[in-house]
Amino acid sequence: MHPAPRLAQTQHAVSSRVFGVDFLPPLPPPAPPPTHAAPSAVHPATRAGHDAPARQPSDPTTAAGPPGSIIEPAPGPADPARAEAHQRLGQILARYKADAPHRHFVTAFTNIVFGEGDPRARLMFVGEAPGADEDRTGRPFVGRAGQLLERMITAMGLSRQSVYIANVLKTRPPNNATPTLDECARCLPYLMMQIAAVRPEAIVTLGLTATRALLTTDLTMSRLRGQWQTLAVPDAQPALSVQVMPTFHPAFLLRQYTAENRAKVWSDLQAVMTRLGIKPTGVG
Ligand code: URA
Repeated sequence: MHPAPRLAQTQHAVSSRVFGVDFLPPLPPPAPPPTHAAPSAVHPATRAGHDAPARQPSDPTTAAGPPGSIIEPAPGPADPARAEAHQRLGQILARYKADAPHRHFVTAFTNIVFGEGDPRARLMFVGEAPGADEDRTGRPFVGRAGQLLERMITAMGLSRQSVYIANVLKTRPPNNATPTLDECARCLPYLMMQIAAVRPEAIVTLGLTATRALLTTDLTMSRLRGQWQTLAVPDAQPALSVQVMPTFHPAFLLRQYTAENRAKVWSDLQAVMTRLGIKPTGVG
């Protein structure tokens, strides 16, 4: 190995051990798999025997649509379980559009931000609601908090395309306000349907709002963070219970980017990696 990458790798390992990980892997992430070819090795976040997710940065469905348009879920990949999950996600989106639960509380939005990623991801991330960048593009977690989330995902040895990312609310709350209990309750059934379609093995909830909404609890983040919880997903066929790891929201981490907070989040993500048998790229 060239000395520079080795040095960077050592620094990364030391910083992750001593100061708290900075979520930047020392080496560039591996190139994404080709769009139509099956990968030579099964991706750690991809179910054994299933193709790796096909979504690419140039995928037209990731582009912003005209105002009021809806960004559809990722294109349906080859294997039957993933194709079925993709189809179900499309049906859930159609139902969401028909029901429009946001009509009770949103006065204006540009795009519905439904969720995106591998329809059969082993790992799902759940945030609270779209912000301005997400509203503009129709994609979850693409602003500053999203960029940090992506670095966290990369530090885990995964790619954004190999996980599934969604929010409790699918539309931007007025004035970016924290969603109320009523707003969360109106939108939660659609998130539960998404979880039942994707059937992830683990979910990372990002921040207190998403954690409380999904787990129906009023415990504080200091009590919830870092502790595995079990979510029984209503109406899943077959029955589904998913392990949930609550952690800090990346927006909170950006505001309080201390070594202590980063170490806490990294420790939560490492618990997830251990459960799923994922090894981070380039961490010594
Ligand atoms: N914060 C969230 O909770 N979700 C997003 O999609 C973006 C920011």
